[in-house]
Amino acid sequence: MAEKEVHVVTGAFGFAGKYIARRLLEAGFEVRTVTNSQRRENPFVGRVKAYPFNFNDPERLVESLRGAKVLYNTYWVRFNTANFSFSLAVDNTMKLFEAAGKAGIRRIVHISILNASESSAFEYFKDKAIVERLLKESGLSYAILRPAVLFGKEDILINNIAWFLRNFPVFDVFGNGNYKLQPIFVDDLARLAVEEGLKEEDRIIDAIGPEMYVYKELVRTIARTIGKERLIISVSPEIGYIASTAVGRLFGDVTITWDEIRGLMANMLYADSPPAGTTKLSDYLRENASTIGMRYSSEMARRKNRQLSYDHL
Ligand SMILES: NC(=O)c1ccc[n+]([C@@H]2O[C@H](COP(=O)([O-])OP(=O)(O)OC[C@H]3O[C@@H](n4cnc5c(N)ncnc54)[C@H](OP(=O)(O)O)[C@@H]3O)[C@@H](O)[C@H]2O)c1
Repeated sequence: MAEKEVHVVTGAFGFAGKYIARRLLEAGFEVRTVTNSQRRENPFVGRVKAYPFNFNDPERLVESLRGAKVLYNTYWVRFNTANFSFSLAVDNTMKLFEAAGKAGIRRIVHISILNASESSAFEYFKDKAIVERLLKESGLSYAILRPAVLFGKEDILINNIAWFLRNFPVFDVFGNGNYKLQPIFVDDLARLAVEEGLKEEDRIIDAIGPEMYVYKELVRTIARTIGKERLIISVSPEIGYIASTAVGRLFGDVTITWDEIRGLMANMLYADSPPAGTTKLSDYLRENASTIGMRYSSEMARRKNRQLSYDHL
């Protein structure tokens, strides 16, 4: 029997990586993952072999990638804390790309961010652009997918907007709430990633969904769909940040960062590009109206607890 082609997905027990791994298995590939969370509960019942990232042991990192054809890279951090930072994520991603080259990986499908730019005022977008450049300079074949916001069962932003709507009588939007965003369904991103993994040519794709929302309309749509029509008020970004931070603290979480608020308000999650996804957020919300936002999703809990699936964190 012919051996299966091996593809490696970072963080296959996390969010986007899980959907990519599932699609790769369905397509008949052998799937490995490199992850910080080797023992995280996952749906693959032993079909995805997990290796640690080993950023500080490049030879072992190379060994975990050896023999694979494609690497799907989801690795990143959402904000700076005492334990992780964007600059560390850039250094580690560089090590990952170098290891991929040494291991004989043919192509990297890299998940970036919409509007990544080295001249961006926002560290997330700037450092993502640095990583994109490092990938282009690596000499490996690449596809760079640039999503704005992902939605799906394990997402944080859409889920937590719904959670706030379920739990508070008033919802405050930052400033006038008229900035735009284009969410993509996580499994549409996964489909795109797997399609791109099979190609040869270098590509950069704005991975946005078919619906564009103005933020306050997004909040209204979620509220209406889950049956929690609330008073939606405009507050200054500073007040909104203080309020979100206070609620986040109750969960030991960072609900939203100051940069995320400023990036959102600066339309960083919007681009005038054709949609790459087909699933409408409005349909997803209707289909999941009874479950979305029933519990708070915590970025920090996901970083601290490496056993439970994201479904519970
Ligand atoms: N989620 C969104 O709405 C969104 C929007 C735009 C772009 N993106 C991009 O899409 C990619 C995947 O995002 P995702 O939400 O699906 O991520 P995720 O599954 O939560 O994490 C992806 C990978 O990064 C690792 N990771 C995340 N935070 C980390 C931290 N603080 N320290 C160390 N490792 C960390 C995870 O660790 P484990 O190995 O422990 O799982 C996993 O390997 C990322 O590159 C992100 O920038 C996401």
